[in-house]
Amino acid sequence: MRVYEKRLDVEKDVADLHKQNKSIGFVPTMGALHKGHLALVKKAIDQNQAVVVSIFVNPTQFNNSEDLIKYPRTLDSDVTLLSTLSNDIIVFAPEPKEIYGSKTSSFDYDFKGLEHEMEGKFRPGHFDGVGTVLKHLFTIVSPTKAYFGEKDFQQLQIVKKLVEIENMAVEIIGCPIYREESGLALSSRNKRLNKKQLQESPLIYKTLKQVKNDFGTKSVIDLTSWVSEQFENNDVLVLEYFEIAKVSDLRSIKRKRKNTKYRAFIAVFAGEVRLIDNIALN
Ligand code: PAJ
Repeated sequence: MRVYEKRLDVEKDVADLHKQNKSIGFVPTMGALHKGHLALVKKAIDQNQAVVVSIFVNPTQFNNSEDLIKYPRTLDSDVTLLSTLSNDIIVFAPEPKEIYGSKTSSFDYDFKGLEHEMEGKFRPGHFDGVGTVLKHLFTIVSPTKAYFGEKDFQQLQIVKKLVEIENMAVEIIGCPIYREESGLALSSRNKRLNKKQLQESPLIYKTLKQVKNDFGTKSVIDLTSWVSEQFENNDVLVLEYFEIAKVSDLRSIKRKRKNTKYRAFIAVFAGEVRLIDNIALN
């Protein structure tokens, strides 16, 4: 296990790997690793000759300073977890200055409207922050393939657009959502849920599954009001948004058309903790 704080150390190893013509799989994370992250790392190990995992709580993608402060930071146990998969992983865990220098700011990206939908509406500037940190990380790591979870489906689509815009030679691989047995999608933020919130949170996936089931027969408007009702009737979870959107441009729809791929997207608050999830509908 090589755990680096300095970009120069990573760049040196990466240059050696490229010299040896070895493929590099890269998994960017913000740490507090769980089985969802590990599934991405496993795939990267299977598909590449070397693997880099970054652990960096990126300040520019947090629009809520409280969320940034409370984001769990558990580097030691993250490294221990990674070592259960392989002892040959390069871990890059920098301080913000190492990525941003003296000015921690974002580029102003045009992701062709993808950034204005859903998460973009509720978290202004978030995707500029994600795009900026990934541009920096991709430059340092210069990976062959990079792995992202469908848990953050909008992020995955935006990363594909980023690579196009920045003309970077990295293949973006999407990976399925890893869930608890209860159906709750794994997230580093789940660690902040209390017992009652944890008990109620499986309603999120249960609702999405029912929407998938009824998508063929019920209208989008009826489905949307049915979802609102489910959360109005729950005294722990508060619905922020529910949308059915086209996979191609993430625009929400009122009516479905033939030969078009759709997904349902949801964001819910359990107290102060914000949880997101989504499901393929067809
Ligand atoms: P983070 O939330 O740590 O997630 C890192 C990666 O793990 C993302 O690609 C995310 O989609 C994936 N992931 C998280 N939970 C998952 C689950 N239950 N199943 C499958 N994949 C899951 O996403 C970020 O960090 C940041 O925005 C980052 C891309 C690192 C940029 O800062």
